Amino acid sequence: MTCFHWPLTIAYYKMLNDIKNREDLYLIVKEFYKKLPLDKDLKHFFEKFNDKMILEEHLQTLVDFWDDILFFTGAYKRNAMLPHLELHLKNRIEEPHFTAWLRLFRQSVDENFAGENAETVKSRAESIAEVIKFKTKQL
Ligand code: HEM
Repeated sequence: MTCFHWPLTIAYYKMLNDIKNREDLYLIVKEFYKKLPLDKDLKHFFEKFNDKMILEEHLQTLVDFWDDILFFTGAYKRNAMLPHLELHLKNRIEEPHFTAWLRLFRQSVDENFAGENAETVKSRAESIAEVIKFKTKQL
């Protein structure tokens, strides 16, 4: 029996396209933020997003963030590190949290897109996670 790598199997089956624009990025973050509150290890970090208005505003911020990374639009003008340092001081973010966060982020991308930009957002998420880890360990 032929054994395919799982995300590639999904990509083949659904004939997935690459991420092209903000609408595509919105789909990823929306699907991602549906998964986070269902994860037993992560849900306590994301309780404030049970409020739909707060969630919507945050999703737009995340779209700006990824739009800037992929398409150099300058849409994201904040410091993404600070909220994580504040979060860590209230509720420590540990290795298993990063692992779970990255797994769900990768899934949200792979279930919907395939291609160079899809690979870029996944690898950037991993490298940013390393920086957040490094900075939080110093607190
Ligand atoms: C276990 C790991 C992580 C947890 C628990 C976490 C949690 C959070 C939470 C709760 C917020 C909202 C903060 C607030 O509005 O007060 C946030 C914001 C954000 N996170 Fe994370 N995060 C994690 C990892 C990452 C990684 C790896 C990235 C990089 C791709 C990232 C990118 C962002 C961005 C861009 C924002 C918006 C910051 C802003 O408001 O300008 N996060 N995160």
